[in-house]
Amino acid sequence: MIEFKNVGLKYPNGTEGLKNVNVTIGDGEFVVIVGLSGAGKSTFIRSINRLVKPTSGSLLVDGEDILTYNGSHLRKLRTKIGMIFQNYNLVHRSNVLKNVLAGRLGHTGTLRSILNLYSKEDLGLAYESLQRVNIAEKTYNRADELSGGQQQRVSIARVLTQKPAYILADEPVASLDPPTSHQVMTYLRKINQEDHITTIVNLHFIDMAMEYADRIIGMRAGEIVFDGPASEVTEETFEEIYGRSIREDDKLKEGDQS
Ligand SMILES: Nc1ncnc2c1ncn2[C@@H]1O[C@H](COP(=O)(O)OP(=O)(O)O)[C@@H](O)[C@H]1O
Ligand SMILES: [Mg+2]
Repeated sequence: MIEFKNVGLKYPNGTEGLKNVNVTIGDGEFVVIVGLSGAGKSTFIRSINRLVKPTSGSLLVDGEDILTYNGSHLRKLRTKIGMIFQNYNLVHRSNVLKNVLAGRLGHTGTLRSILNLYSKEDLGLAYESLQRVNIAEKTYNRADELSGGQQQRVSIARVLTQKPAYILADEPVASLDPPTSHQVMTYLRKINQEDHITTIVNLHFIDMAMEYADRIIGMRAGEIVFDGPASEVTEETFEEIYGRSIREDDKLKEGDQS
């Protein structure tokens, strides 16, 4: 379980990335955070594995305040949280298998992995993870030979190999075309349902969020302006999150195309 209690985060330049955020995310939930660029989505997600550190309040993961963590506690926290990034963060010149085995780093230790001393279990887990996202045929290809969608599937396989309790995905489909985006979202959703891994995904657009999320959290200027099931999202919700009506948005999109 993840609990934000009056969490604020003020960056050194004075920007408030998060303002008095109160939210609880239960085990096994699939939550999508939506909001405009600059709303605080990345700050929210990155606070959970302490890539950034909130400056006020408390942030509990499995009942412990992670804002007090450093050193070995932080490493342990990051071992149980898998991260998926917009730009996949693969090692381009390594093959797919090595990239996926990197998911074991927190468990195996750096020296063993440098020496390629992976256990049979780790290898088995890596192969199985690649199969689960349907990319096993690329196991021995270099990562940079793959398309964006394939690379994101490899990064999902890496997270699966990590065996995390939580998956955080920061705009995982922002660089992908619509069909590929849906494929990636479908895998994330399937893994959440099959393995009961609590999953938090940041997305720009509410329409994609509505298709996949149990629960949507809308952010604007560092604050949570909506928190509820997709079925409760209304035109007013859209206005609160985006600061304009859904009709204006349609007109803008039409304008883009002409
Ligand atoms: N390292 C940083 N230093 C200063 N301001 C930052 C930093 N990172 C993000 N911000 C600011 O914090 C706010 C929230 O940013 P962010 O969490 O990246 O939003 P989102 O992911 O929704 O686009 C924005 O105003 C952004 O400019
Ligand atoms: Mg962001």
